[in-house]
Amino acid sequence: MSHESGTQAKRMIRALKGEPVDRTPIWLMRQAGRYLPEYRKTRAEAGSFLDLCYNPELAEEVSLQPIRRYGLDAAILFSDILVVPDALGQEVAFKEGEGPVLAPITRVEQLDELDLGGVVERLQPVYETVRRLKRSLHAETALIGFAGAPWTVATYMVGGRGSPDQAAAKLWAYRAPEAFQKLIDLLTEATILHLSAQVEAGAELVQIFDTWAGSLPETQFRAYSLAPTAKIVKALRGKFPGLPVIGFPRGSGALAVDYARDTQLSGVSLDTGVSPAWAAKNLQSIACVQGNLDPLLLVAGGECMRSAANHILDTLAGGPFIFNLGHGIVPQTPPEHVAELVELVRSAKR
Ligand code: CP3
Repeated sequence: MSHESGTQAKRMIRALKGEPVDRTPIWLMRQAGRYLPEYRKTRAEAGSFLDLCYNPELAEEVSLQPIRRYGLDAAILFSDILVVPDALGQEVAFKEGEGPVLAPITRVEQLDELDLGGVVERLQPVYETVRRLKRSLHAETALIGFAGAPWTVATYMVGGRGSPDQAAAKLWAYRAPEAFQKLIDLLTEATILHLSAQVEAGAELVQIFDTWAGSLPETQFRAYSLAPTAKIVKALRGKFPGLPVIGFPRGSGALAVDYARDTQLSGVSLDTGVSPAWAAKNLQSIACVQGNLDPLLLVAGGECMRSAANHILDTLAGGPFIFNLGHGIVPQTPPEHVAELVELVRSAKR
C-alpha cells in the first residue's frame, strides 16, 4: 500500500509531508469526550468505557461527534492506549472517577503470561471501527489511528494506575534494565501489530502518544522512548511506504529535536511548555510541528485564548504546521470555546 500524496491530498497529510496548504489544518487531542453532551449520552448507552471502545457502531458515532460539530480536518479513532495491555491479557478496568486500574506487572516472569499473538484478533472490533469511519468520513477529513508509546503504556502496566511520577515503572527500569527492556520490546512488537492493523483497515496516518516521556532522564529517554518509537516508525514504513506518523513526546523539552530526527517521524506534537519560536527554529526543518495551545486556555476562552492561539499561528503557520492543543481537551471545556478556536484557526491568514 502506498501513502504518497497526490494533488488532491488532504490538508493534514499535505502538512505532514511539508507541502503547501490553503489553510492551517486543525484537530484536537481528546476531541471526542466528556466535554460533549452527545458523548456522555452515547457513553451511558454503552455501559463501561471499554464496552464503548469495543462497540464499533458506538465508537464510530463518538469519533464522528466532534467532526459534525466543528468540521475538524481529522477524525481520530475512538479507542484508548490501554486496549493493548487488555488485548495482551492483562486485567484492565476503567473505574468511575478513578481512571484506569490494571493488575500490576511487577516481575519479569509475568511477561510470559502476556499473549502477543492474540493482540490483533482481540482488537478486531477496533479495526472494524476504523473501517466504518473510513466509509463515513468526508473526502476532506483525514482518519487518524493511534497507540500509546511503549514507555507510556508500560507506566500503567507496571504501576497499575496513573501516577504523578511514574515511580513504579522507573524503579523497575533503573533496578533491572534487562528485564524492563523485555517489557518494552514486547510492547514495541504489540504496537507495530496494532498500528499496522489500523492502517490496513483505513487509517491514513497514525499518532504515537508518549504522554510520560518527560519523566525520563536523557539516557532512559533515549532507550525507552526514542529508540522504540524509531523501531515502530521503521517497521510501519517498511510495510506502508510514506505513511505519515506523528509522535507526542510530552515533556521531552530540547530532546524533542533528537527525537524528531532520529525517529524519522513526519510530525512532532508539542506540549504547552515548548516555546513556539524555539520550535520554529529548531524543529520545523526536521518535521511538521503540531500543537500546542494550553487546554486550560480553551476552558478560559475569551481574549487570553485568542491571543495565545494567534501567537502560535503567527510563529508556526509559515512552515509545516498542524494546530492542536499541548495535551488533551479536559471535561470542563465549554463546547462553544472549541467552535470559536476552530473558526479562528480556519480564518487565519497564512
Ligand atoms: O478523542 C480522542 O482523542 C480519541 C480517543 C482517546 C482516548 N484516550 C479516549 C478516552 C485517546 C487518543 C486517548 C489516549 C490516552 N488514553 C492517553 C494518551 C494521551 C493523553 O491524554 O495523555 C492516555 C495516557 C490514556 C489513558 C487513559 N484513558 C486515562 C489516564 C484515562 C482516565 C483519565 C480521563 O481522562 O478520564 C482514560 C479514559 C479515557 N480515554 C476517556 C476517554 C474519552 C474518559 C473515560 C470516560 O468517558 O469515562
